[in-house]
Amino acid sequence: MINLSAILYLVAAVLFVLALKGLSSPTSARRGNTFGMIGMVIAVVTTLMIMDKPVWALLGGAIAAGALIGTWKAKTVEMTGMPELVAAMHSLVGLSAVLIAVAAIFHTGQEHTPVQKVELFIGAFIGAITFTASVIAYGKLSGKFGSKAVSFGGQHLLNLVLALSMVGFGLAYFVTDSHAAFLAMLAVALVLGVTLIIPIGGADMPVVVSMLNSYSGWAAAGIGFTLNNPVLIIAGACVGSSGAILSYIMCKAMNRSIVSVLLGGFGAEAAAGGSAASGPKNYKSGSADDAAFLMGNADSVIIVPGYGLAVSRAQHALQEFADKLTEKGVNVRYAIHPVAGRMPGHMNVLLAEAEVPYEQVLEMEEINSDFSNTDVVLVIGANDVVNPAAQKDKGSPIYGMPILEAYKARTTIVVKRSMNAGYAGLDNELFYMDKTMMVFGDAKKVVEELVKAVEHA
Ligand code: TAP
Repeated sequence: MINLSAILYLVAAVLFVLALKGLSSPTSARRGNTFGMIGMVIAVVTTLMIMDKPVWALLGGAIAAGALIGTWKAKTVEMTGMPELVAAMHSLVGLSAVLIAVAAIFHTGQEHTPVQKVELFIGAFIGAITFTASVIAYGKLSGKFGSKAVSFGGQHLLNLVLALSMVGFGLAYFVTDSHAAFLAMLAVALVLGVTLIIPIGGADMPVVVSMLNSYSGWAAAGIGFTLNNPVLIIAGACVGSSGAILSYIMCKAMNRSIVSVLLGGFGAEAAAGGSAASGPKNYKSGSADDAAFLMGNADSVIIVPGYGLAVSRAQHALQEFADKLTEKGVNVRYAIHPVAGRMPGHMNVLLAEAEVPYEQVLEMEEINSDFSNTDVVLVIGANDVVNPAAQKDKGSPIYGMPILEAYKARTTIVVKRSMNAGYAGLDNELFYMDKTMMVFGDAKKVVEELVKAVEHA
């Protein structure tokens, strides 16, 4: 039985690695998900097989309840609600790490080696921080709590004192085996989760969610050592390292250092840094008919989708419009910024849902040099990712962030509902350029009008 379980765990672990590999590209993402699901079923069944005195009624009830809630959530969640759902899920991973650690500590008659005690307390405090931090992240992202950064004097000092006392209590538990010290460590870690996350503004929350993803993985790995469960260690390490890599990629795409994200304040500072209402400026606006005429007569069109496309769920209509342009002989491509939307891969997921051919979808590095040879760029529900201030205005909070160079095209058409700012709260010079035409309205409504207009042209 031992050998069979070891082999099954190994198979599950290999499937988890293949899942991550598959998820690294939109073309193989579905396959990756399937590998992950099979791996998880094997891991759960194997664990049930080797359990000592399982209470089947409790286990069955918990699995059924989890499966029902998970299925319902997966079926009902809006694409725009994914980041907060992910945050809520991480809070559960953190909480389970804490509960397993508490159960292991209070399990009478169970002796822990010194190494196990270290793994236990590290796994438990990371789990506790992940739990409360993820609850706050969920609240901020879902709008249940304000998304503004909360800062006050001595904040970093307070966090340092809390972190030191948390480790102090952990060491006290290590030396004395005191249950009280362990619980005190957990209590401080729960508070630290809150104080660490409140200074982080809304714009940085997706990076933090990905960091919490990483923490939850490390917490699970720590607990895996305590339970002597290799598949939990491997799965935890996969989640921990992929979350850390993703946070790094996101920070790079936003030109932010991970330290500055964690020290917080960006959301507040950016919102104060400028807004669309900083003074009357001239811009040109036109109708969907004007826009369809310009694009229908162009040789090349690049579409830049952003958060507004996701909000209005305009991707299907947009693909219909792109197909009509292609039929007319226009070379149509999509340009994807790594942090367009509100979560990693947000635009890729939407375009894949609308069955946009992968070869039409290009990443920022692949397409940026083509903007200057392009007739028309259609910016749809995007703002920060095409803001030239990131290249030209040294005082801008987004200065240095790589952008899609839509401003270099011969003509730019921007579809959004108003002159309001995007997520970073900044005005966008692109909207006031001579070669830019604003088309105001909800993205889906405007694109539907574009489809009709291009059909009749
Ligand atoms: P934003 O800069 O947020 O701009 C989106 C624009 O869409 C807004 O200006 C809004 O203007 C418009 N809009 C909203 N609803 C619309 C609708 N129904 N129809 C038409 N337009 C609509 O988006 P972006 O360019 O995609 O940039 C993403 C931002 O999020 C960046 O600042 C990025 O750093 C941040 N962020 C993203 C991520 C990830 S991983 N994606 C992570 C962290 C931070 P109106 O109100 O005038 O319509």
